[in-house]
Amino acid sequence: MQIREQWIDEAIKNIRKKMDWVSDKNKDIIPYTCAADGSYIDMSKKDPGDPKSEGINWWTNGFWGGLLWLLYEDTKDEKYKEYARISEKKLEECFVEYRGLHHDVGFMYMLTAVADYKITGNPHSREIGLHAANLLAGRFNIKGNFIRAWNLRDGEPHTGWAIIDCMMNLSLLYWAYEEDHDPRYLHIAKAHADTVLVNFIREDGSSEHIVEFDPVSGRRITSYGGQGYEKGSAWSRGQAWAVYGFTISYIHTKEEKYLEAAKKAAEYCISQIPKSGIIPIDFKQPKVPALEDSCAAAILASGLIELSVQIHPSKNARYRDAALLLLQTLAEDRSDFTQTCDAILKNCSASYHEKTHHIAMVYADYFFVEAIYKLNGTGRFMW
Ligand code: GLY
Repeated sequence: MQIREQWIDEAIKNIRKKMDWVSDKNKDIIPYTCAADGSYIDMSKKDPGDPKSEGINWWTNGFWGGLLWLLYEDTKDEKYKEYARISEKKLEECFVEYRGLHHDVGFMYMLTAVADYKITGNPHSREIGLHAANLLAGRFNIKGNFIRAWNLRDGEPHTGWAIIDCMMNLSLLYWAYEEDHDPRYLHIAKAHADTVLVNFIREDGSSEHIVEFDPVSGRRITSYGGQGYEKGSAWSRGQAWAVYGFTISYIHTKEEKYLEAAKKAAEYCISQIPKSGIIPIDFKQPKVPALEDSCAAAILASGLIELSVQIHPSKNARYRDAALLLLQTLAEDRSDFTQTCDAILKNCSASYHEKTHHIAMVYADYFFVEAIYKLNGTGRFMW
């Protein structure tokens, strides 16, 4: 898809200019959010003052590498490849700690080792990607047919918890199947996607964030609001994961049921996007306070573009137009292209009930840049 509009050209120019110095400044760390002075904080090391900090195992630690690979593809500047490989190398440390990694190995390794292998053919990166895929496959529970999300959370093992976000992690299994031709990866990815289709996606197209299964019998027990407003609500980033995740399952399997699920989830989101293009943390949250999540907007936009590509041009305009509204709003009203802050997008929120909102988040920048490059017709499909 290539769309020529002035604001897109402007956004690309701004992204290139900002990432040029941001990448030099932060090449030796793995950022997640910014400190009060606007500088990125290194997430690759445990914070000694925070017993919950996960250090190198933190789930967003692949997005920095992913962002650098996007810039490398766009500019062909060798420094981006060199910097991306610094974080890729650090992520290898994760394999030595058994309880450290979780289902987000998809996010972590698709955008680092697998991206490196796809772009440069690096054989070592291929090995790392396949190891990560094996770890993800190992989290599958044959009772209930779901991939276990997390390890310990608030002191509880939550062995029966699955979350909508995992639809994105399935990419790693599809890639491993396509790369290594072992159908186990495909079976597991599809079995999990089928479980989500039946147990997460509601009649109106909205999605649960967390569903709990009995890990012994596989019976569905209940759902939780998770990072959204409350049980039964519609956490906007979760809705975006559903749109993008089912589109990915369709791309890799060509099974119509996944395309239909992606369209259903997209229709729900489109029905909720306000004219302003500014996305709340939860589509069912109270109007006040007006809490936003620019990250959800960026993921949803990138997912909608990908979905529109799968649909005949006579029928895809509503998905593409919704994505354009979200991205233009982000580019013109929620971006910081100055040197006062390392991150681009403003007003991202990790979770409705967290104390801090409207922060910078590296994965918001990743999905924003990914989506803008798709509009330019130069973006690579990373999933
Ligand atoms: N995968 C966790 C989140 O979206 O915050």
